[in-house]
Amino acid sequence: MSSISTDWRKDTEVLYSKVKITARIEELGQEIAASYEPGTELCVVGVLKGSVLFFADLIRAIEQPLHCEFIGISSYGDATKSSGVVKITSDLTHSIEGRHVLIVEDIIDTGLTMQYLLKNFETRSPASVKVCTLLDKPVTRKVEVPIHFTGFECPDAFVVGYGLDYAGKFRNLPFIGVYHGDA
Ligand code: IMP
Repeated sequence: MSSISTDWRKDTEVLYSKVKITARIEELGQEIAASYEPGTELCVVGVLKGSVLFFADLIRAIEQPLHCEFIGISSYGDATKSSGVVKITSDLTHSIEGRHVLIVEDIIDTGLTMQYLLKNFETRSPASVKVCTLLDKPVTRKVEVPIHFTGFECPDAFVVGYGLDYAGKFRNLPFIGVYHGDA
């Protein structure tokens, strides 16, 4: 059994409430749909596992025809700092050649994961690639990456909830909170 505390009432402080997240996602959906020609078919790629909750809510807010794909990436072990080592743990199930791809990420921190993903996708010849992240942590950026849609600009803190984890835990919190537990 892990010794990591899962007592979120004690270990987390709410940063973005469920109500605030829901409202922002509605706006993001409209921004995204408005940025494409009406009827453009999108291939929305969720980056596993952190974006799953965001992805599920976001696609329901985008009024465009779309397909869903997922890609598994590992960039963090159980620590709160980026290892800088990025690898694909599970790949897309369909080709993105000639398709309009929207990458959906939970958080962009150093930018290393997104940089890797964008370079990788470029080799697959999509018609276009845009990036949507729920959280942008610009203070800790190591490499510049294009971000077309951002939910919230996040302070330099380790955050959990609404899909984001610490050592695999806290993903099911309905809000995003700053983690103050033992890290
Ligand atoms: P980057 O490669 O440093 O930009 O990190 C991207 C990935 O690191 C995200 O998809 C998250 O899985 C993880 N990550 C970065 N910051 C946080 C955080 O504050 N909380 C939880 N996960 C984070």
